[in-house]
Amino acid sequence: MNIGIVGCGIRGQLFADALSAEAGVTVTGMADLSVHAREAARARFGADISLFDSIEKLYDSGIDAVIVATPDFAHLAPAVEAAKRGLHLMIEKPLATSADEARLIREAVVKHGVTCLVAFENRWNPHFLKLRRLIDEGRLGRIVSVNAVLSNTYFVPEKMLSWSAASSPGWFLMPHTLDLAMWMTGSTPVDTTARGTRGVLARRGIDTWDTVDALVVMESGAVAGLRSSWILPESSSHIVDFRLEIVGTEGSARIDMNEQGITTDLDRHATHWALPQEVGGEEEGMAQWMVRSWARGLVEGIVPVPGPEHGQIVTDTIETVHRLIEEAHRAEK
Ligand SMILES: NC(=O)c1ccc[n+]([C@@H]2O[C@H](COP(=O)([O-])OP(=O)(O)OC[C@H]3O[C@@H](n4cnc5c(N)ncnc54)[C@H](O)[C@@H]3O)[C@@H](O)[C@H]2O)c1
Repeated sequence: MNIGIVGCGIRGQLFADALSAEAGVTVTGMADLSVHAREAARARFGADISLFDSIEKLYDSGIDAVIVATPDFAHLAPAVEAAKRGLHLMIEKPLATSADEARLIREAVVKHGVTCLVAFENRWNPHFLKLRRLIDEGRLGRIVSVNAVLSNTYFVPEKMLSWSAASSPGWFLMPHTLDLAMWMTGSTPVDTTARGTRGVLARRGIDTWDTVDALVVMESGAVAGLRSSWILPESSSHIVDFRLEIVGTEGSARIDMNEQGITTDLDRHATHWALPQEVGGEEEGMAQWMVRSWARGLVEGIVPVPGPEHGQIVTDTIETVHRLIEEAHRAEK
């Protein structure tokens, strides 16, 4: 299987690296509109991977499947064009940043009979897998409440993402926690309320939401409280604050991704994630396991999960969250 990657940024390069030793698949080409990004990929991967300045040239180069790793708002065109050409897909989360675009992607996948994984990488995170197993075993009973925080320090909107003003903590982060809430409850949203705040990032030159809070009621009756913020100070112990609390009728559980048993006190106190990291000469971690299991599934003809139907539900809900916070913000002014 020859794989193409659209987007030579952080994630595109991570996936190309993760698949470099995977049997049965070869990343043969990558595409990016930015010459700077293509040069960075050339410096990292050499002549092994062809670099293209358009998706059409990449798609004409004899590939079988495509990874879409463009910014949040730029998944539609590469995804639909790939499906039309019969190329299987892995698409970064969120599937799209509007319900209409998510629907167009799902419809194209179905119409052209290709497979599509939406890259919710927490499905490959051992912490969340263990919790899901405990729930499957009935140890927590029926899940009635989920609370999740997934936030970043200023580093992410100000230094890591060049396109943060065109996204938000709601689009960049909350799809992950909504996916977790749906996965842990085995249910889908039926009602959503939300509030957001803005002004702090705007004053720093990035005109988007500072914080987004949503209360999502699931069909099962479980209630999910989700919070994502992009204005944590850089003095925080980690650039990501990621915590999940679940209450069931028979028990409860907490995951604190910030406290994995590794802390340092250097110029400041810091916590560290064990993964991703090089283990036995290979970079290992959630995203690496996800893309490798997708690639193995391609070779073996397995339909990947979660697919575009799930991705569309997440996008529909996050769009509703943004509509509600816009409306509340306008009413307050
Ligand atoms: N960085 C992370 O930690 C992270 C984690 C999980 C998921 N994601 C998701 O992955 C996606 C990519 O994020 P990233 O961090 O790699 O961004 P990035 O900015 O590092 O890379 C995106 C690349 O896509 C290129 N691009 C933009 N429009 C294009 C187009 N139409 N055709 C071809 N190339 C185009 C840009 O030039 C850029 O090089 C996003 O949807 C993001 O939410 C990122």
